[in-house]
Amino acid sequence: MSQSPAQDDNTALFRKAWTLYDAITEQNYMFHREIYAHVAGLLRRRHAQGGYTLLDLGCGNARFLAPCLKAAPPAAYDGVDLSAGALDEARDYLGGLANVSLHHRDMQQAVESAASTFDIIFTGFAVHHLDPAAKQRLFHACAAKLTPGGQLIMADVVREDDQTRDQYLAAYLDTMRTHWTAVPPGQLEEACAHVAAHDFPETLADLTQMARSAALPDVRVLGRFTQHHLLVFSA
Ligand SMILES: C[S@@+](CC[C@H](N)C(=O)[O-])C[C@H]1O[C@@H](n2cnc3c(N)ncnc32)[C@H](O)[C@@H]1O
Repeated sequence: MSQSPAQDDNTALFRKAWTLYDAITEQNYMFHREIYAHVAGLLRRRHAQGGYTLLDLGCGNARFLAPCLKAAPPAAYDGVDLSAGALDEARDYLGGLANVSLHHRDMQQAVESAASTFDIIFTGFAVHHLDPAAKQRLFHACAAKLTPGGQLIMADVVREDDQTRDQYLAAYLDTMRTHWTAVPPGQLEEACAHVAAHDFPETLADLTQMARSAALPDVRVLGRFTQHHLLVFSA
């Protein structure tokens, strides 16, 4: 995958204030601990079957995936993100792993132009930034780049089937303002503004339909922690 830096407003928070996201995840407000414990289990099981390759879309600084990878080292890891600052940090968190490649580029372009296939494509809290057409396109691209028996593992926020985006946002922002008490008020409002402007979560029914259209009909919900889900899609 070639380098092609791109700018996108939905990543501004992660370019300017990666430490804010770190503070949020450190407090486990998005259930990273529980979700990545499941991911670690999936990777351990995949590792036990033999060497595997992993593509990480919207890897950020890979702070939570790095320990999972170290416990079940892939033959090769490719991380993709639009935030150069996050990728710099990822280099440190992933230190000690062999065959790590980090790509400063858009995840859709990265999957579509990937020269190889992957046993696992992982994406954590990045897909909800895309509009529905882009999500569908990403499912198709991922399905095309999975090896036979491969899995698309997605951690992300999901909307209830009967919830509009406005209703979802009202509930999520209320949770942030009520429970995310360790985030300083100014930074909390910055995070709320980011969510209100850039979060477009789908319902599980819509994600399932997108996956089916992309020939990934086996959809499993491995974990659900309020709005935060861990989903596995395979053929
Ligand atoms: C909320 S962070 C998630 C980081 C990490 N994967 C996790 O699970 O905590 C979302 C990341 O996706 C990246 N991102 C958003 N849209 C992207 C795109 N179109 N292409 C590549 N990266 C993108 C952002 O820069 C950010 O680092």
